[in-house]
Amino acid sequence: MDQTRVFRFLCQVETCRVVFLMSLAVAFVLGLQYFEHAPISIVSPENGTVSEFSESHDITKSAENETFLAPQEATSGFIPFNSTTEVLKSLEHKFLNYSPKASGESRGNGTASSLHSLQSKIPRNNNKKHEHKRSTKKPPLVVISITQMNNMLWKRHSDPNNSLAPRWGSEVDKELKTARNKIKNAVLVNKDDTLYAPIYHNLSIFKRSYELMEKTLKVYVYSEGDRPIFHQPEAIMEGVYASEGWFMKLMESNSRFLTKDPTKAHLFYLAFNSRILQQKLYVRDSHRRRNLVKYLRDYINLIISKYPFWNRTRGSDHFFTACHDWAPAETRGPYMNCIRSLCNADVGVDFIVGKDVSLPETKVSSSQTPNGNIGGNRPSKRTILAFFAGNLHGYVRPILLNQWSSRPEPDMKIFNRIDHKSYIRFMKRSRFCVCAKGYEVNSPRVVESVLYGCVPVIISDNFVPPFLEVLDWESFAVFVPENEIPNLRKILISIPVRRYVEMQRRVLKVQKHFMWHDGEPVRYDLFHMILHSVWYNRVFQTF
Ligand SMILES: *[C@@H]1O[C@H](CO)[C@@H](O)[C@H](O)[C@H]1NC(C)=O
Ligand SMILES: *[C@@H]1O[C@H](CO)[C@@H](O)[C@H](O)[C@H]1NC(C)=O
Ligand SMILES: *[C@@H]1O[C@H](CO)[C@@H](O)[C@H](O)[C@H]1NC(C)=O
Ligand SMILES: *[C@@H]1O[C@H](CO)[C@@H](O)[C@H](O)[C@H]1NC(C)=O
Ligand SMILES: *[C@@H]1O[C@H](CO)[C@@H](O)[C@H](O)[C@H]1NC(C)=O
Ligand SMILES: *[C@@H]1O[C@H](CO)[C@@H](O)[C@H](O)[C@H]1NC(C)=O
Ligand SMILES: *[C@@H]1O[C@H](CO)[C@@H](O)[C@H](O)[C@H]1NC(C)=O
Repeated sequence: MDQTRVFRFLCQVETCRVVFLMSLAVAFVLGLQYFEHAPISIVSPENGTVSEFSESHDITKSAENETFLAPQEATSGFIPFNSTTEVLKSLEHKFLNYSPKASGESRGNGTASSLHSLQSKIPRNNNKKHEHKRSTKKPPLVVISITQMNNMLWKRHSDPNNSLAPRWGSEVDKELKTARNKIKNAVLVNKDDTLYAPIYHNLSIFKRSYELMEKTLKVYVYSEGDRPIFHQPEAIMEGVYASEGWFMKLMESNSRFLTKDPTKAHLFYLAFNSRILQQKLYVRDSHRRRNLVKYLRDYINLIISKYPFWNRTRGSDHFFTACHDWAPAETRGPYMNCIRSLCNADVGVDFIVGKDVSLPETKVSSSQTPNGNIGGNRPSKRTILAFFAGNLHGYVRPILLNQWSSRPEPDMKIFNRIDHKSYIRFMKRSRFCVCAKGYEVNSPRVVESVLYGCVPVIISDNFVPPFLEVLDWESFAVFVPENEIPNLRKILISIPVRRYVEMQRRVLKVQKHFMWHDGEPVRYDLFHMILHSVWYNRVFQTF
């Protein structure tokens, strides 16, 4: 008798639960449809970019704070993570023994300057120390938020003490300084036909800088270097490392930016492929990459002895793109002054924000259609809250799967490896796509999410997202600290529907910056955006 009572009670609980979940789903879809059709004007007429979503007449007050949460859940919403600065401060002393190149005294107070001094104290040219394999099994000791990265960028670009002055002057320095002044004094642009203002830190600055790049920039490509490691992009136009192949192909065949006269060059391109370097020279199971490092050293020594250009700037106007995981370690030493465009953009290792450039990792299945089958559902047709699938590389993914792969919440689709077709289908039907750290910070999921219209959720502490120089990542992506994985669902469902819809719209607006175009280059595409970030960092490190 007692048992039937309990059973009946349980049944009611179950029914309640189902009804509750269903009503949540219905509320969500209604909410989406409502907001999808409401014109959300978020461009402030005076200054083009806004950090928060401003009011629209079409949105009633009552709907304003609507979230994916039921009210009782909402009250226990997540607490913003703010311990980063404390962690940093407590760990800073670890780095105090490394003096920055010019002076040893600490510069200023506050988060930005602590970070800045921290970064300048991270060992740079200590090759021996990093030769043995870095463990990827542990979380980083220092976690730097995206806001802090933006501060670091700004700091580096406004402090001449961080840049190397050329050993002797040249006409190109004057051109770079002129460009810098013109960009800083850009006329205000609030609106643009092709660029959606809210996704940029500052549309006026980006637009001006891009136009000046088109007008001014000249790149010299050294012809030295043996194939296939150098000058053979065809070898790597597909797969997860394809970015370096695509960039090289488009750079070496470019008609606008190349110059045959190195004295006219603002930038010098070192045309090697890090993936092919590894394929050709790494001795399987040797756990040593000394010979790979030596190969690149020999190359740069040749360039240094043969041409005066490296010596003039100590390499700070030289750049390369490299997508292999090992590239950051292989290009320490003499390459550290270069603008290193790396897929493995880890600010906790030795990526220098404001100098180095995050290279988007694009997974190309077919070089005929490098951007894949772009597209995806409208927000109201995205019925899955969060999606992830992938091998259990690194330490983050096992935590993610442990927490979320076998939970009762049906809107969390967190899997181990699944087949490619289903993977794409999930990306197109999910509201949020989780880009979790693998062995290294970068993942092709970031670009995939963007191209499939899924709002990226980046769970990879210290990953520097691509085009940080110009894009306001926090306006269209969610950054979840690794130690907040248990709160993942809570964080996502507490994002108001209205905000979600706007984020998703911004993701669509950012797509063009992540697309390759073979043959005829297209303005603002992936190739141009990579080159622009290199240009931008060069310009803003010229004083
Ligand atoms: C830009 O807009 C923000 C938010 O509305 C405001 O705080 C800021 O003062 C504005 N800046 C300028 C230059 O108008
Ligand atoms: C929405 O949230 C804000 C900030 O928490 C609050 O001030 C406002 O009263 C809320 N609006 C409604 C309609 O609940
Ligand atoms: C956030 O910062 C405030 C003020 O510094 C502090 O009181 C609070 O404990 C911090 N919260 C966390 C989670 O670290
Ligand atoms: C740091 O701030 C304290 C108090 O605000 C001040 O006395 C000190 O001089 C500052 N240090 C530097 C290096 O600016
Ligand atoms: C740069 O270094 C010089 C000399 O060390 C110092 O006087 C100056 O204040 C520094 N500039 C900044 C912006 O920190
Ligand atoms: C954007 O940059 C321009 C040029 O420096 C400046 O006048 C404007 O205030 C900036 N806008 C914002 C929103 O910061
Ligand atoms: C550049 O400097 C190095 C060392 O200072 C020197 O050995 C080399 O010959 C110089 N290169 C040229 C082309 O002068």
